[in-house]
Amino acid sequence: MYYRRIRDDLQVALCMPQHADALFTLADENREYLKAWLSWLDAMQTVEDTRQFIQSTQDEFAKGAALHHVLLYQGSLVGVVSFNSIDKINGIGQIGYWLGEPYTQRGLMTAAVADLIHLGFNELCLERVEIRCAVENWRSRAIPERLGFELEGTLRSVQKVGKARYAHAVYGLLASEQLSY
Ligand SMILES: CC(C)(COP(=O)(O)OP(=O)(O)OC[C@H]1O[C@@H](n2cnc3c(N)ncnc32)[C@H](O)[C@@H]1OP(=O)(O)O)[C@@H](O)C(=O)NCCC(=O)NCCS
Repeated sequence: MYYRRIRDDLQVALCMPQHADALFTLADENREYLKAWLSWLDAMQTVEDTRQFIQSTQDEFAKGAALHHVLLYQGSLVGVVSFNSIDKINGIGQIGYWLGEPYTQRGLMTAAVADLIHLGFNELCLERVEIRCAVENWRSRAIPERLGFELEGTLRSVQKVGKARYAHAVYGLLASEQLSY
């Protein structure tokens, strides 16, 4: 299995079929917390849905088109941090993330996103990383802001979650720029 150590108590691993049960349980137990911001959650109703999702991430990884990590804190699976898409032609990675609510407010995701960015620039030879967050999702926006991304603009009405439609704040960081971490 592929692991990256971030701190003594924090690792990431490539998302694999053996994570399906723990990943489904985490998403299901945190449904109320996550559902305001994550469009895919309604389609994730059974562990089989999670297995199919993991298979699709592996297919994308094999093509070099995405990289999904599970976040392991003190040995437990607590979230996901990913390049949801990798544009190899233009050298751009688009980052996505979520945590189970009990694991928030500890700096875990900021550390994991910083690690993913190092991997993107130093090992995947990306030139730009991008994070898009609903404009009202202040906890999510705090991550690129903490890490020194530039707020480049907003895209109107690009995400539907339940009955809500959200505009996205678009944050970018270039390989030539300083990651604040
Ligand atoms: C987005 C999300 C992952 C952010 O979680 P988070 O806990 O705020 O982020 P971190 O793990 O980086 O923790 C940062 C918090 O821990 C605190 N913290 C504690 N120790 C820290 C450390 N060593 N380093 C950095 N922050 C630390 C920070 O002060 C911050 O809290 P604050 O915002 O009250 O100041 C989480 O809110 C989530 O999963 N939301 C639902 C899904 C979602 O919105 N995903 C993103 C879609 S774009």
